[in-house]
Amino acid sequence: MKERAILRKINIFSHLRDREVDKLLEVVEEKDFTKDSVILTQDDLGDTLFIIVRGKVKIVLLSEEGKEIILSTLREGDFFGEMSLLDGEPRSASVIALEDSSLLIIKREEFLKQIRKSPEIALRIMVEMSKRLRQADEKIGSLALLDVYGRVAQALLQLAKSEGEKTKKGVVIKKRPTHQEIANMVGISRETVSRVLSDFSKEGYITIKGKEIIIYTDLSQIEYSGHHF
Ligand code: CMP
Repeated sequence: MKERAILRKINIFSHLRDREVDKLLEVVEEKDFTKDSVILTQDDLGDTLFIIVRGKVKIVLLSEEGKEIILSTLREGDFFGEMSLLDGEPRSASVIALEDSSLLIIKREEFLKQIRKSPEIALRIMVEMSKRLRQADEKIGSLALLDVYGRVAQALLQLAKSEGEKTKKGVVIKKRPTHQEIANMVGISRETVSRVLSDFSKEGYITIKGKEIIIYTDLSQIEYSGHHF
């Protein structure tokens, strides 16, 4: 699978010339992870960058009692592990495969070499890190300021933005997260998520069919003004 085409699809490398891509391919390692395997553990030391070639991962914080909060989910083309690589501190979160995934792994020294050769890579990483900080800010705001309806609505909106498909019916999310996963994204119980989703369905905001969820209306109205049930 180590082909140019794979690296071409990765945003932070897509501007490189063929010769540069081939050089990069010589120094990356490809590794497969099965669903549910732990790729990185919070607080471990590490100095490698991971790039998702295939699959999906979740970035999580775990409590000692085994409770988890999902900070983000990342998919094909995304990278992670840049924080420890850049600041030398332990891993800020754990990363777990949500699907069978193939990753490219680059060591710190090799990655810094690439950045020196092509500073555009660093710019692209900064753009992505800004996006992530925005999302993290939204999440802090949501956890501190919104009620359970607002929090679930905001999680659905973020999902619609990142993987929704606009259709005549509404925005369709094909592989929706489970109620437990939504609960772990917004810091409330699975039972509460089920109640909120059922209320959203009854009010005609969404339809859930198997693994699919359709969002009909502008849920942001709920997000900003609290629920009206
Ligand atoms: P690092 O700290 O090396 O290891 C865990 C990785 O998870 C981290 O680098 C980032 O790549 C990623 N990560 C941590 N927090 C977030 C977040 N809020 N959103 C997206 N990715 C994150």
